[in-house]
Amino acid sequence: MQAHEKGYFTEADSVEVVTGRNANAKDARLREVMEVITRKLHEAVKEIEPTQEEWFQAIMFLTDTGHKCDEWRQEFILLSDVLGVSMLVDAINSRRPSGASENTVLGPFHVADAPAYPMGTNICLDHKGEDMVVRGRILDTDGNPIEGAKIDVWQANDEGFYDVQQKGHQPDFNLRGVFRTGADGTYWFKAVKPKYYPIPDDGPVGKLLADLGRHPNRPAHLHYIVTADGYDPLTTHIFDPDDPYINSDAVFGVKESLLADFNLVEDRSRAAEVGFDGPYWDVEFDFVLAKV
Ligand code: BEZ
Ligand code: FE
Repeated sequence: MQAHEKGYFTEADSVEVVTGRNANAKDARLREVMEVITRKLHEAVKEIEPTQEEWFQAIMFLTDTGHKCDEWRQEFILLSDVLGVSMLVDAINSRRPSGASENTVLGPFHVADAPAYPMGTNICLDHKGEDMVVRGRILDTDGNPIEGAKIDVWQANDEGFYDVQQKGHQPDFNLRGVFRTGADGTYWFKAVKPKYYPIPDDGPVGKLLADLGRHPNRPAHLHYIVTADGYDPLTTHIFDPDDPYINSDAVFGVKESLLADFNLVEDRSRAAEVGFDGPYWDVEFDFVLAKV
C-alpha cells in the first residue's frame, strides 16, 4: 500500500491523499474538475507557502466577495472578469473559423427587452453627448450579406453610465435598441460617442485592483449581440482605439480585431444627410458570423 492509499496526510502526498478520496464521485466530470483544481491549488499553496494569517486573509476576501453579492450585484463574476477568467472561458467556448468576428464578455448591463427600431433611429433618447453614426454590414464568412440578422446594441452614455445605473436620470432604454437587417445586410443607427467607465469598484474586487496598482476602467465601447438563423450567435463589443484605457481594459475584453475607426465628420452637408446639424463621429464596422 502506497503512503497516500492509507489516507494519512503528508505534505508530499497531499494531492493524492485528497483526490484519492473522490474515487466514488457520482459524476466523472466533477471528479475530473476537482482533481485538477485540487492539484493546482495545492501546487499554488506549496509555492506560496502562506502564513496562517495570509490564508485567513484570503478566506476573508472570498467571504467579503460573497457578502457583496445580491440580486443586482455579482462580485464573483467581477472577480472572474478582473482575473481574465471570464475572457478565457469565453475564448474557449467561442472558437470560430478564421474571418469570423470574435466574441468578448457580455457584461452585466444587457437588458433583454430593448425596443426594436427601424434602421437609422437615434437610440440616444436624451440627446446628451457628441453625436455618432454607427454603420456596417452583417456578413457570412464568404462575404455575403446576411438578411434578417438581429442586432441588439447597448452602450454607456457620454459620462460613462448605462441607463440602468442612472434610473430616473437617464430615460429607460436610453442607448439600447434592436435592429434587423434587410437583404443587403447593412445596418445603421445614431447614438452618442461612449466614454470609458469604471467597473463597480466599491467592493472587495475594487479594493484588490487598487492594492494591485490597477485602475478599474473599461475603454469606451459599444456592446452587440448579433444573431441570425443558421449562424453562431456573436456577443461582442467594438472599441474606440483612441481611448486612454484601450491597452489596459480592467476585464481584458479588448481584442485587436474589435477596434473600430471613429472618424470625426465636420462637413455640414454630410451631417445634414444623416440628420445632424453639427459635427458627428462616424463609426463603421462589419460583423462576420460563422455558420453553425
Ligand atoms: C461591461 O462592459 O458592461 C462590463 C463588463 C464586465 C464587467 C463590468 C462591466
Ligand atoms: Fe460595457
